[in-house]
Amino acid sequence: MAYDVVLLPGDGIGPEVMREGRLVLEEVAAKPAAKFDFTTIPCGGQYYLEHPQQNRDWPEGSEARCEKADVVFLGAVGWPSPSGQGPVIMQNGHMAGWSPVLGNRARLDLYANIRPVRLLPGVQHRVHGKHATIWQPGKVDIVFLRENTEGLYAGVGGFVGGGISGSAAIDTRIITRRASERIIRKAFEVARKRERGAPKDGKKRVTCIAKDNVLKGCQLFVDVFTSIGKDYPDIEKDFAIVDAFTQWLITQPEYYDVCVTTNMFGDIVTDLASVLQGGMGLAVGCNVGDEHAMFEPIHGSAPKHAGKDKANPMAMILAVAEGLRWLGERKGDKSLEKGAVAVEGAVAAVLEEGKTLTYDLLGEEKAAPMSRVGEAIRRELGRRL
Ligand code: IPM
Ligand code: MG
Repeated sequence: MAYDVVLLPGDGIGPEVMREGRLVLEEVAAKPAAKFDFTTIPCGGQYYLEHPQQNRDWPEGSEARCEKADVVFLGAVGWPSPSGQGPVIMQNGHMAGWSPVLGNRARLDLYANIRPVRLLPGVQHRVHGKHATIWQPGKVDIVFLRENTEGLYAGVGGFVGGGISGSAAIDTRIITRRASERIIRKAFEVARKRERGAPKDGKKRVTCIAKDNVLKGCQLFVDVFTSIGKDYPDIEKDFAIVDAFTQWLITQPEYYDVCVTTNMFGDIVTDLASVLQGGMGLAVGCNVGDEHAMFEPIHGSAPKHAGKDKANPMAMILAVAEGLRWLGERKGDKSLEKGAVAVEGAVAAVLEEGKTLTYDLLGEEKAAPMSRVGEAIRRELGRRL
């Protein structure tokens, strides 16, 4: 039986990194490990502009197609508006590219956005200086869980008096007990499953990131954290106010094991955290629900790098590994888990060798193009499968 895989390449560098991701999946499938049926759905701001009669950011029926898939992979979405001001915005007020990202997260109930942040051997993170001794591989090994369906992304709000040029704009932040409970429980479950706790002391620890000194929704979130935490006596509970957290994260990343937070804070702190793993070129987002999942690199569409065979394909390829692992667990298919381990091992080997890397890791002068990095990874992968 073949697994039904939907690919959403999107805008800018999205289609390029997706091609590398797909080649990796094909390599995994080339061994008798697994078979994949691929369906590619165009989407994003460019799709919207190229199909003015449709007024949609992906074709009719894409929603149902994603729902039917065994697993979904997303490249990146977002394209500059021809007016020169911000991204392309659709008539309904959403960014073009909303449907495959935020739409899928909500519709498929992908309530957990799980973002691992690991500094792999051979990679230099972007914070150096006199504290350099603490910045060793293995000293950064954090998993972030970002609530993925509500908060400031709930889509409740609007403009007052005259639309976008009116006098005020309102975004309502919704924090429900139910959504808080499931993301927080998931965070404790992830912590329980991890072999090593925090790099600093080996303790299993979940940090709840909020702004509960000010915001009601955060007070509710922390209340849920405290009560669910009682079911996990083996795991240390830790609390951080989000603004203070940002500096602790940078100065003592080794203290953190699993972190859980609300949607918007999670969006922001995970981009910051990616600096500790070598940048956005290595950062992965797993959008996971009870029935569906979608995996993506968290970098954007980077229009200025589009079509240049330049961007780092590793985040997409590591997203493919996470997707294989999730699908393997869901289907009880050990060969997929094996594929995931092989893909991660291949990326780690290319990083550690340090020769065939894109500009973000090696600098413009020594950089290899994206496609050569992809080839190097597949060569390593072939040896591991
Ligand atoms: C992310 C992205 C998205 C988000 C955008 C593209 C809507 O920044 O996945 O972190 O805000 O969630
Ligand atoms: Mg983001």
